[in-house]
Amino acid sequence: MPNKISIKNKITSFKKSIKVSGDKSLSIRWVIFASLANGVSQAKNLLLSEDVLAAINGIKKLGIKVDINKNKCRIYGKGINGYQYKKKIIINAKNSGTFGRLILGLLVNASNPIKLIGDRSLSKRDFQRITDPLKKFGAKFKLNKNKNLPLIIYGSKNLKPIKYYENRGSAQCKSAVIFAGIRTKGITYIKAKKSRNHTELLCKYLNLPIQIKKKERFDFIKVNNVKRINPINYTIPSDISSAAFFIVLTALSEKSKLIIKKVNVNTSRIGIITILKRMNVKVKFSNIKIYKGEKTADIQVQSTNNIKAINCPTKLNSGAIDEFLVIFLIAAKAKGISYFKDLSELDKKESPRLQLGSKILKSMGIKNNVTKNSIKIFGNPNLNINVNKKIIIKNFLKDHRIFMTSVIAALSFGGQWDIHDKDSIKTSFPNFLEIIKNLQNND
Ligand code: S3P
Repeated sequence: MPNKISIKNKITSFKKSIKVSGDKSLSIRWVIFASLANGVSQAKNLLLSEDVLAAINGIKKLGIKVDINKNKCRIYGKGINGYQYKKKIIINAKNSGTFGRLILGLLVNASNPIKLIGDRSLSKRDFQRITDPLKKFGAKFKLNKNKNLPLIIYGSKNLKPIKYYENRGSAQCKSAVIFAGIRTKGITYIKAKKSRNHTELLCKYLNLPIQIKKKERFDFIKVNNVKRINPINYTIPSDISSAAFFIVLTALSEKSKLIIKKVNVNTSRIGIITILKRMNVKVKFSNIKIYKGEKTADIQVQSTNNIKAINCPTKLNSGAIDEFLVIFLIAAKAKGISYFKDLSELDKKESPRLQLGSKILKSMGIKNNVTKNSIKIFGNPNLNINVNKKIIIKNFLKDHRIFMTSVIAALSFGGQWDIHDKDSIKTSFPNFLEIIKNLQNND
């Protein structure tokens, strides 16, 4: 089977209600917390993608038993100090920056060295952002010469709490330090630029010793040594980062309407909604609920004709960081020039997304000026790619979001697209293409 898809026609009008798969950030965090609990935890609707399976295999390497049965997953935690550190353990985080970085926080007291490896994309990503603060707790590291994977962590018996300033708006950095703080006697202080706060919400829900003070741009977090974690049964809500592809597809398609059920709409994750609303996109929430500290809602969206350009405020960046590629597609159809800035983190993801996003737009005939940390997009409200124009998307880092964004662009704007690396969707959204297919069934 070829690992690419060819799209030659725009999608036709649709009116549907769909469910996208479970949230990746929450799935990985649930796996980690469950692995530390005293007893059996169960999750429903866990995202069974390669990133989450890498997390499951990772905790199995640390001696934790896991059962997966259809849509249910059980993890048999052995308590906060229940990891077994056998000699020569190798943990493979594959493509998952979240698992690779978060687990290091919990290995700061490992009694044997542990090697962390990843796939080609993860092995290019910066791990010094994690190893620097974890060294201050007392852990030691052997990193490869580019400060990335493979690395070896040497835990310490004499951990000391730290004061940490997180200024990138990275939830992975913040969470790794919270996990190390959980393992360390005394109070760890964190001043963190706003970023997704699932780790903190789960700590709160589990009654762990964490305090959070929210200020306008930063959160001030205090965390103390944790002695016990209760099992946690959780039904994972859907992922707004997966819903994003369908929100954008609907907005850009003719005479279409979509409801996406039970999506996690935590305020630290809904940057895309704020941005799209400011661009005139008709999108709203209904059926809002709170589930174990997290907010969920159904997202309703419809075709939008008069899209406006945006000068995107940088304070919205971290809440939309995984969604910018599809937001750029909305900007491509806007009236006027959109400007997105202070986005250097975007080139540090699974692939250099700012540069590749610019390339995709150019191949669609959309003028844009890209720098190392910003992009100006010259929108065209009448954008319609010539039916004979061939566009080939091939990305050697096999970035799942580049693949899915290209599919949405092809279905929205037309042209003859060959999009490679179809398998990349297994990372975060294995049934993405199936949902697209069902949108086109007129039942
Ligand atoms: C994530 C945090 C973000 C995001 C990633 C998932 C998380 O990364 O891009 O897909 O689950 O904590 P950073 O922490 O690097 O911003």
